[in-house]
Amino acid sequence: MHNIRNIVVLTGAGVSVESGIATFRGPGGLWEGHRVEDVCTPEALRADPELVHRFYDLRRAALKQVAPNAAHFALAALDRAWKDELLIVTQNVDDLHERAGTQRLLHMHGALQSALCAECGIRTAHDGPLPPATLCTTCGAPALRPGIVFFGEMPYSMDRIGDAIGSCDLFVSIGTSGAVYPAAGFVEWANDCGAATLELNLERSGGSDQFDASRLGLASELVPAWVAEVLAQQ
Ligand code: APR
Repeated sequence: MHNIRNIVVLTGAGVSVESGIATFRGPGGLWEGHRVEDVCTPEALRADPELVHRFYDLRRAALKQVAPNAAHFALAALDRAWKDELLIVTQNVDDLHERAGTQRLLHMHGALQSALCAECGIRTAHDGPLPPATLCTTCGAPALRPGIVFFGEMPYSMDRIGDAIGSCDLFVSIGTSGAVYPAAGFVEWANDCGAATLELNLERSGGSDQFDASRLGLASELVPAWVAEVLAQQ
């Protein structure tokens, strides 16, 4: 790795597994016992708001039981030390990157500790249970829902992410299956823009063939090793 200045890192559920948070596509393809379509679509929210709100209430409450692992801390150390451009884009809705100290961070799929008003579209920080029909603190409508991007909805900050990928020299994907677009397409954008591309994942993923290199193993081991490598050449 030489002449790396601008870096984009994409993280997925695999980075939080060793903290005790289940992946989305675990055994049987279930997310904490539910089909993703039953808890993560606008249709599911309309059909059974109680179920969907309760599901995210449990996920939000579970954050109190977990802590960042060595992969989160290594990325936070990279953020502190890297002098050029760096953007860490996470698909995860947990708060483990920020609890490790990462600041240059975007939650493209939203965050458990946020609420979105279906009426006025304002997103606000939210902790604790969020029952259906909770009043929006901005517009007063009984329309707060979990601040999570559901399937079929546009992820956040796509313009900023596109700009960062367009000007990066290195794109690194960590702990993601490459099953969900648009994030699964970032490696292709990065390749088209001439960046080097590296995957760090437990196993080969849907997108492995598109990376210049894939390193297989645990995020808690691969990420600190890669961060040490990249900082050594800064
Ligand atoms: N270290 C590194 N990688 C790991 C580890 C680990 N300890 N454990 C699991 N993995 C890998 C798995 O092998 C898998 O390839 O992490 C990946 C997790 O894949 P998914 O469960 O599909 O999660 P992700 O890619 O983040 O999902 C993307 O899908 O459901 C939606 O919006 C949701 O953000 C989510 C998106």
